[in-house]
Amino acid sequence: MKDERFLEVTNRNKNIHFTGPLLVTGGAGFIGSNFVHHWIAGRKGPVINLDKLTYAGNLGNLQDLHSNPDHDFVHADINDAALLKEIFTKRKPAAAVHFAAESHVDRSILGPEAFIKTNVNGTFNLLQQALEYWRQLDDDAKSHFRFLHVSTDEVFGSLNPTEPPFTETTPYSPNNPYSASKAGSDHLVRSYHHTYGFPTLITNCSNNYGPYQFPEKLIPLTISNANKGKPLPVYGDGQQRRDWLFVEDHCAAIATALAAGNPGETYNIGGWNEKTNLDVVRAICGILDEIAPKGKPHERLITFVKDRPGHDVRYAMDAGKIYRELGWKPSVDFEAGLRRTVQWYLENTAWLENVTSGAYQNWIQLQYAAR
Ligand code: NAD
Ligand code: TYD
Repeated sequence: MKDERFLEVTNRNKNIHFTGPLLVTGGAGFIGSNFVHHWIAGRKGPVINLDKLTYAGNLGNLQDLHSNPDHDFVHADINDAALLKEIFTKRKPAAAVHFAAESHVDRSILGPEAFIKTNVNGTFNLLQQALEYWRQLDDDAKSHFRFLHVSTDEVFGSLNPTEPPFTETTPYSPNNPYSASKAGSDHLVRSYHHTYGFPTLITNCSNNYGPYQFPEKLIPLTISNANKGKPLPVYGDGQQRRDWLFVEDHCAAIATALAAGNPGETYNIGGWNEKTNLDVVRAICGILDEIAPKGKPHERLITFVKDRPGHDVRYAMDAGKIYRELGWKPSVDFEAGLRRTVQWYLENTAWLENVTSGAYQNWIQLQYAAR
């Protein structure tokens, strides 16, 4: 039977081929580093990768690009206006993709300030510098320039179990400092298009998983703990639902929106793949029982802990618009993507040891000791 969600592509736009470098912010983080790999492997052109290298940014994610002439790393904060001005004027990017953010809900609950500084003030600063640069481009470069802001489904708030998934017209209703700061940044980006005609695109995506995700998020934390025989913390009753998308699919969707999206538009990106947290944790345990059976059954490690304050019950994305208008849909199913992810973490123990030494231990203590 045909899948009703994917019956018709109404309007495939002409793709832009960017002739200059792409400015990527936050390209040393989880999705950003996967995107930089995706862009360079696809021979789409050089990348200027600007990242502050917070706890979540790691040059180890980009090790194989170390001597690649298409990868130019700049260690900088998006709040540094003078440096951004210099990068725009001297390196003349053809477009920008903005990933840089504080991204973890639990950290935003314990310390919201960094989220406002980077996600709101930093995005404002980047927009302002990008706008000033764009205004002095010649007509051809100006018409091809794009500023793509990478955002999240969490700006829409929480669904009850029977509501339809979020669409691009769902009202914003963020419930925690992370989602509120992302909502603020989305509104700023939107306003720069509306007020100045600046060619922005916004993508709102569901929960990603895959290689290089920092092990504070549910999937890599569960893999890492289960493999070490440590407890697997499940908040509340574990019945909260998220829509999960393999990170490479997200990268392909961003590249599609960048090349073919209509300026001023927003596109929802999702995996059409809702799962409860408990089902996700159980699925990881099942894969580990098969491929790393020492300590099985891993499910015995599941530990229900105190719930997250203000925990959003359900996110679900309707990603129909980006399919109908631009022809993108997910290609990796959850079972296959999760297996690849578990395998990756088992094979990259040095990466995992590196990111979980030092400050990571303090975070785990702060976050889980009293639960
Ligand atoms: P991440 O935390 O893994 O990476 C963020 C990167 O931004 C890091 O490399 C960090 O060093 C850098 N950074 C932070 N503050 C900075 C600053 N002031 N200046 C320059 N660089 C800075 O995050 P991620 O999971 O890769 O998410 C990337 C983007 O995608 C974020 O904007 C996030 O809101 C969005 N997003 C994430 C998900 C998800 O499931 N992870 C889903 C949808 C949208
Ligand atoms: P997370 O990976 O932090 O992403 P987000 O909060 O952005 O959705 O969490 C995914 C879900 O898993 C969320 O409902 C909270 C839950 N969760 C746990 O149950 N235990 C954990 O240890 C973590 C980190 C998350």
